Amino acid sequence: MSAQANSETNFFLRHEFIIRRVHSLLGIVPLGLYMTVHLATNASLLNGTETFQRAVFLIHSPGKLLPLIEWGLIFTPLIFHAVIGVWIARSGRSNSSQYQFRSNRRYTWQRWTGFIALVYLFFHILHLHGWFHIPAWEQVIRPLGFGMFRPYSAASSLVKAMQEWGYVWPAFYLIGMLACVYHLANGLWTSGITWGLWISPAAQARASKLCTVIGCGLAVLGISAWWAAVSPSQEKTVEMKAVEDRMYNAAVESGMVSPNVEKRSESGEQITEVPTGE
Ligand code: HEM
Ligand code: HEM
Repeated sequence: MSAQANSETNFFLRHEFIIRRVHSLLGIVPLGLYMTVHLATNASLLNGTETFQRAVFLIHSPGKLLPLIEWGLIFTPLIFHAVIGVWIARSGRSNSSQYQFRSNRRYTWQRWTGFIALVYLFFHILHLHGWFHIPAWEQVIRPLGFGMFRPYSAASSLVKAMQEWGYVWPAFYLIGMLACVYHLANGLWTSGITWGLWISPAAQARASKLCTVIGCGLAVLGISAWWAAVSPSQEKTVEMKAVEDRMYNAAVESGMVSPNVEKRSESGEQITEVPTGE
C-alpha cells in the first residue's frame, strides 16, 4: 500500500464513526427524500400536461433563489455523499461482518448501484438541467443535446429530450433510475445497521421485509415517471406545447412566475408575451 493510501486509511479509521453517520444521513435526508418527491412529480405527468406543468411552476416559483436551493439542498449533499461513498468503497472498509445471512451480496450491490448512480446522475443532470444556468455554458452544451429541459414548457421539452438519440436515453434512464431505487431501498436497510436500529437477526429480517415493500413502491413510482417521459409520440408534444403556452401566459399574468423566455421551448417564444405592467 502506498504512503498516501495508508494515511487515507488511517484518517478513515480515526473518524469512521462520524464519516459513516454523515454519509448515511445525507443519503436519507435530503437525497432519499428528494428522489421520492422528484419521482412522484415526474410521474404526475401521467395525469396530464397540466398536472405536471403546475408542479413545475411551483418548484420554479422561488425564481432567482432556485439555484441557491438546488446547490444547497441537492447538489452539494449529492457530491458529498458520492465522494464519501467512493472513498468508503475504495478504502475496502466493508462493515459486512456486521450483516447476517444473504446480506453480503446485497451489500456488494449497494456499492455497485452507487457507482451506477454516479454515472447516471452526472449525465441525467447534464442532459435535462445542464448543471449551471450560465449563458456561456448553455451555449456550449445545448447544441450537443444537453440542458434540454425547459421548465415553462415542462412536458413537451422532457419528452423531446428523451427522443433525441433513439432508444439510448430511455434505456439509460430505466437502468439508472432502477439502480437509484435499489440503492435507496437497500440503503435504508443498511442505514439501520449504521444507526443501530436493527441489531438482532429477527429485527433485521423484519426490516428487510419493510425495505422490500418500500423498494417495490419506489420502483412503481419510478417506472411511472419513466413511462410518462418516454411513451408520448412526437405529435403529442404539439398538443402539450399548446397547453403549456396557455398556462405560461396565465401564470405570468397571475404573478406566479416571472416572464422568462429562456425557460420556454421555441414554440413559446413565438407566443405574444403578456404585458407585465412594469
Ligand atoms: C451519486 C452517486 C452515489 C454514490 C457514489 C453512492 C455511494 C454509496 C455507497 C458506496 C454506499 C455504501 C457505503 C458503505 O459501504 O457503507 C452508499 C450508501 C447509501 N446511499 Fe449512496 N451513493 C450515491 C447516491 C445516492 C443517492 C442519490 C441516494 C438517495 C436517493 C443514496 C442513498 C444512500 C443510502 C441511504 C445509503 C445507506 C447508508 C448507510 O448504510 O448508513 N445514495 N452510497
Ligand atoms: C425516469 C425518471 C426520471 C425523470 C423523468 C426525471 C426528470 C427530471 C427532470 C425533468 C429534471 C430537470 C428539472 C429542472 O431542471 O427543473 C431532473 C433533474 C434532476 N433529477 Fe431527475 N428524473 C428522473 C429520475 C431521477 C432519479 C432516480 C434521481 C435520483 C436522485 C434524479 C435526480 C435529479 C436531480 C438531482 C436533478 C437536478 C436538480 C433539479 O433540477 O431538480 N432524477 N430530473
